[in-house]
Amino acid sequence: MDGAGPIAGYQAITVTPYSPTIGAEIGNVDLTKPLSDNELSEIRRAFTDHLVLFFRGQELDFEDHARFGEYFGTLGQHVGVKTNSQTTNDPRVRKFHADGQTPRVSGNVWHTDQSCAPMPPMASILYLHTIPPNGGGDTGFASMYAAYDALSDNMKAYLEGLTALHDGTLQFGEGTPKAVHPIVVKHPESGRKLLYVNEAFTSHINEVSREESKAILEFLYEHQKRPEWSIRFRWQPHSIAFWDNRCAHHRAISDYLPNVRSGFRVQVEGTEAPVAP
Ligand code: SIN
Repeated sequence: MDGAGPIAGYQAITVTPYSPTIGAEIGNVDLTKPLSDNELSEIRRAFTDHLVLFFRGQELDFEDHARFGEYFGTLGQHVGVKTNSQTTNDPRVRKFHADGQTPRVSGNVWHTDQSCAPMPPMASILYLHTIPPNGGGDTGFASMYAAYDALSDNMKAYLEGLTALHDGTLQFGEGTPKAVHPIVVKHPESGRKLLYVNEAFTSHINEVSREESKAILEFLYEHQKRPEWSIRFRWQPHSIAFWDNRCAHHRAISDYLPNVRSGFRVQVEGTEAPVAP
């Protein structure tokens, strides 16, 4: 990657920020082996500070992938069935594959994973072994802390106390959950406030008219994806992206079909529902 090198304050791993607001590439660690206590505690700190961590050159098998995820919590199942995602022989690991036969690339709208669940997944860990040969297939990430911080004080005051419905049927069809969450929430570890609506799952704001809800949500969705607090991660074969669903949005960029983009994903269960500050 370009830009500045690793930041100070880490002994076991290297941490090279991707941007001032979100993302860091982690070096000097081998995820095919168990982590030392120091490596794990530094990865946890980097995760809280940078929201999404990238690793390069990690040839993971299912055991390696699941072991890494289980350092952060229990591995869970997706609440819906996506068109280009498939099960594997390990119930903890989902296949993440798209090619010329894929009718709809999963995740190609800004979102946080399964916010339609009463207790959405805390994190997701995507490992790709096969990357389109001519580029493409990047993943966008955006900081919902920075998006919140940049709102006017008047807009912050307006949003605080409002709630929104997150509707899984908008993405995954009947049978997927719906949940009501506050629009401004507090991250359980950093304590920072952030915006918790997304255009994939949020259907409306509960406390205002549908017209007002539509206008406010359209403004927020545009605001959330501004380039000042978003990045584009360029994959290489055997890269990993490990993101915090509680404070980061992401989206797949489906510009590579019919070429193949393929890998596996695990998700770490949440331990608490999003809470208002
Ligand atoms: C997703 O998890 O929503 C998809 C991310 C990606 O494929 O880049």
